[in-house]
Amino acid sequence: MPNKKSHSKIACMVAALALAGPTAALPAADFGSLQKTIKCLGASAYNGPYLAPIQWPKWTTGLNGKFMHISDIHIDELYKEGTDPAGTMCHRPSATNAALNVAGKYGTLSSICDTPQVMLDATFDWIKQNTADVDFILYTGDSARHDRDKTVPRQHSEVLNEHKIVVDKVISAFDTSKTKFIPTFGNNDELDYNKMAPVTDPIIANLTQIWAPYKLGLDENQDWLNGGYFAYEVKPGLVVLNLNSMLLFASNVLTKDCVVDGSAGAGMLTWLRNQLSQLRSAGKKAYVMQHIPPLDHSGKKLYYPTCHTDYTNILGSFSDVILGSFYGHTNKDYISYVYTNNTSSPQDGPFFISTVTDTVPSIDFDNTCILHVSSQGPSIIGENNPAIRVYSYDTSRFAFGGLVKWTQYWSDLVRDNTEDKVTYELEYTTQQAYGLWNLSPLSWTLVLQDWAKNSTSYRDYLKYRFVQNPNPVLKG
Ligand SMILES: *[C@@H]1O[C@H](CO)[C@@H](O)[C@H](O)[C@H]1NC(C)=O
Ligand SMILES: *[C@@H]1O[C@H](CO)[C@@H](O)[C@H](O)[C@H]1NC(C)=O
Ligand SMILES: *[C@@H]1O[C@H](CO)[C@@H](O)[C@H](O)[C@H]1NC(C)=O
Ligand SMILES: *[C@@H]1O[C@H](CO)[C@@H](O)[C@H](O)[C@H]1NC(C)=O
Repeated sequence: MPNKKSHSKIACMVAALALAGPTAALPAADFGSLQKTIKCLGASAYNGPYLAPIQWPKWTTGLNGKFMHISDIHIDELYKEGTDPAGTMCHRPSATNAALNVAGKYGTLSSICDTPQVMLDATFDWIKQNTADVDFILYTGDSARHDRDKTVPRQHSEVLNEHKIVVDKVISAFDTSKTKFIPTFGNNDELDYNKMAPVTDPIIANLTQIWAPYKLGLDENQDWLNGGYFAYEVKPGLVVLNLNSMLLFASNVLTKDCVVDGSAGAGMLTWLRNQLSQLRSAGKKAYVMQHIPPLDHSGKKLYYPTCHTDYTNILGSFSDVILGSFYGHTNKDYISYVYTNNTSSPQDGPFFISTVTDTVPSIDFDNTCILHVSSQGPSIIGENNPAIRVYSYDTSRFAFGGLVKWTQYWSDLVRDNTEDKVTYELEYTTQQAYGLWNLSPLSWTLVLQDWAKNSTSYRDYLKYRFVQNPNPVLKG
């Protein structure tokens, strides 16, 4: 429904913007930029949770206002230091050319190798010591190793065991009855690579058992048991909608495009719309998560065409309810934004989605309202440097669940191997690096206006895209 709030609300918001305070060097000081966003203030995305970018008094006690996002662990039980990455995926040494045997103890940057157990152990040791105070954790999947080594094809039992290894690490670090851990599966997490049946794939029953220590009630959740997706109210008023991206993913040959009558992807997106309508009526907010994002780092679409359009329309038309969307899969750090060119009725669409790539963004800000910005989290696997994200979210009554910033921690894998120890450290925060006072569509719009001028903050975005890997692998 169009959200035609009075001008006094807009005036109040502009006043709040002016008072936003000294968090960082704000591009908002440029009133020309602000003016270009005023036409969008009628869009519901800019109201409600993000009405004022100031910290209200705490509403709920017992919350620290932080949650963690981790992704793509890809544990490999066969990984061996000193083996040949390119020829054997870090499983065996080359007998003929010792110079090829460069696999590092903690992983091999820019290779096609997976993650050794010692890296997973070191990562969870760090998590235990440094992020014990998060309120909950989102895990966007891919626990199992890739099935790339033809000499040792992946067995079903191995896939299940790799899921268990991850569960063991999580429950060693967190009391999952207090700190909720919300997992999903990636495209490598099925019994067979990239293959998930549209209804009740066998991996679902297996994961219902393996994930039981997370205490999410999955054994009684019909959405999960049938479709591999579920809703979980992670804090009162804040619901995680955890999708099965295999039902949208164009590389899953067992499913069909959402245009096909009765397709599982269309069924899930209908479920998603129904959930969001109910949350809207109840005045609750949502975070959406899934393994595969709609777009990769270069802007390439990863879903079936109609699934892509339908999902984009949901992000746009429910941008007042969906406060964040979180993805894994690409092992990269980038953002995508959902926008409309209908500035007279932004909430009516049409909606489009784009990724900020290595081309300076060119957006017609006079005729665009940005309604949602999704963030693509990096991975533990060493394709790029390993990284972990901690989000801050608003715990006040008026803006509950609104994303304030993310703080990214990374480990320099080459240095870890040289020093024979893993050191996670602060990489950047969105406040320091980009001057974002919060992660609302409005704040992002002001930053994108700055990036469109090829600013130093945009150059920083490009540096962080591959988690400071100087030689990234640029396949999809
Ligand atoms: C995995 O699920 C299949 C199909 O439901 C079942 O036959 C098998 O026993 C399960 N395996 C484990 C280890 O739970
Ligand atoms: C918005 O974009 C669509 C698709 O490109 C186009 O057909 C339409 O004319 C545009 N509307 C406005 C108001 O620019
Ligand atoms: C914008 O939305 C309004 C209200 O739904 C609609 O009448 C109008 O055609 C839309 N404009 C464009 C360019 O799509
Ligand atoms: C952006 O700035 C960088 C660094 O100053 C420069 O190398 C690059 O050519 C610029 N790109 C454009 C499109 O202006």
